[in-house]
Amino acid sequence: TTNWIDAAAEGDVPPDDVIGVAVAGRDIALYGVEGQVFATDNLCTHGHARLCDGFLEGHEIECPLHQGRFDVRSGQPTCAPITEAVRCYPVKIEAGRVWLALD
Ligand code: FES
Repeated sequence: TTNWIDAAAEGDVPPDDVIGVAVAGRDIALYGVEGQVFATDNLCTHGHARLCDGFLEGHEIECPLHQGRFDVRSGQPTCAPITEAVRCYPVKIEAGRVWLALD
C-alpha cells in the first residue's frame, strides 16, 4: 500500500507558481499548473539551486542558477545545461490537502 504523506494545504500551492516545502525531512517543490499539483525534489540536478526559486512556465520549471529546465510532470530535463532528471513524486489531493508518495 502507498504511504501518503501530508505535504501542504491545497490552498498553499499557488496557481501557476511553485513553493518549497519540507516533507519528512526532504526539500520538495510543489507546482500548481492548470489546477493540478506536481511535486519534485527541490534541488536542481545540475548544481546547488532550489527550483522553488525558479520560474514556472506552463509545465516547465526554469532553474534560477543557469536557466536549465525540467518538465514537472516527468522530471525530465527540457533545456541545457541540465542532463539528469529530477525525481518526481506521485501526488493526490484529498480533503483539501496535498499528499505525496515519497517512497
Ligand atoms: Fe540548475 Fe545549473 S544549477 S541549471
